[in-house]
Amino acid sequence: MFRELLPESIELVETYDISSERELFDEEKWAIGNAVANRRREFSIGRDCARRALARFGVQPAPIPIGLDRAPVWPIGFVGSITHCPDFCSAAVAKAEQFSFLGIDAERVAWPHEIVPSDFLSPSEMDWIASRQGDESRWEIIFFSLKEALYKAWYPAHRCYLDFHDVELSLLSGEIPGVVMGRPSLVASNKVLSQENLARFLETVQIRFSVENDLVYSAVWG
Ligand SMILES: CC(C)(COP(=O)(O)OP(=O)(O)OC[C@H]1O[C@@H](n2cnc3c(N)ncnc32)[C@H](O)[C@@H]1OP(=O)(O)O)[C@@H](O)C(=O)NCCC(=O)NCCS
Repeated sequence: MFRELLPESIELVETYDISSERELFDEEKWAIGNAVANRRREFSIGRDCARRALARFGVQPAPIPIGLDRAPVWPIGFVGSITHCPDFCSAAVAKAEQFSFLGIDAERVAWPHEIVPSDFLSPSEMDWIASRQGDESRWEIIFFSLKEALYKAWYPAHRCYLDFHDVELSLLSGEIPGVVMGRPSLVASNKVLSQENLARFLETVQIRFSVENDLVYSAVWG
């Protein structure tokens, strides 16, 4: 669960009830208009979770538009993140005066076999995973999820795509289940904008994950 990962001042709403579509504002309905029913449903549940989380800060219900590269457009003064997987959805929001970026990601532990680990893991990440006792595929999905959460935190603040190979994660400990602190080292490439932004991000970034109920929960903030 995300609650035990995130600082208390980050508001969080999560649900395992993903059976029915939630109310959307017209602007959101228009934006998601042609999508298939499953996608409309997950989108609407994500928006609903986000509005409920914002309401805890006293924010009145309002559209949360789809921004550049699909990043949600949060009300001024807030940062946030949304994740959904087949049986779970969550949104986290925080005041921008307290946090510069926030990203969450949930993935099913059951690994989709068509995905190739070397597509998203560096050689040293693969070596680290290989040195764990068993459960390699579980570590692979954890790294995948951590990188997606990192991307969701990074993108709105920097408006720059990060490839899975632009980020290399080194975890301080390797216990599952539980909450494990990790530090990323971003592999500098020309795509990663200014070194100053990068240094600030790395100085402040916090990363945690847990594994529970067959789901990996990853959270990144700073
Ligand atoms: C964007 C991405 C991370 C979404 O992850 P996912 O596991 O497919 O899906 P999730 O349900 O967990 O998250 C989807 C939500 O992420 C958010 N999101 C999408 N693009 C985003 C972006 N550019 N910035 C921030 N948040 C974004 C949206 O809220 C979206 O839900 P919504 O469309 O209903 O609003 C993934 O599809 C992707 O493009 N990954 C490639 C880049 C990457 O991960 N690099 C890793 C290196 S750091």
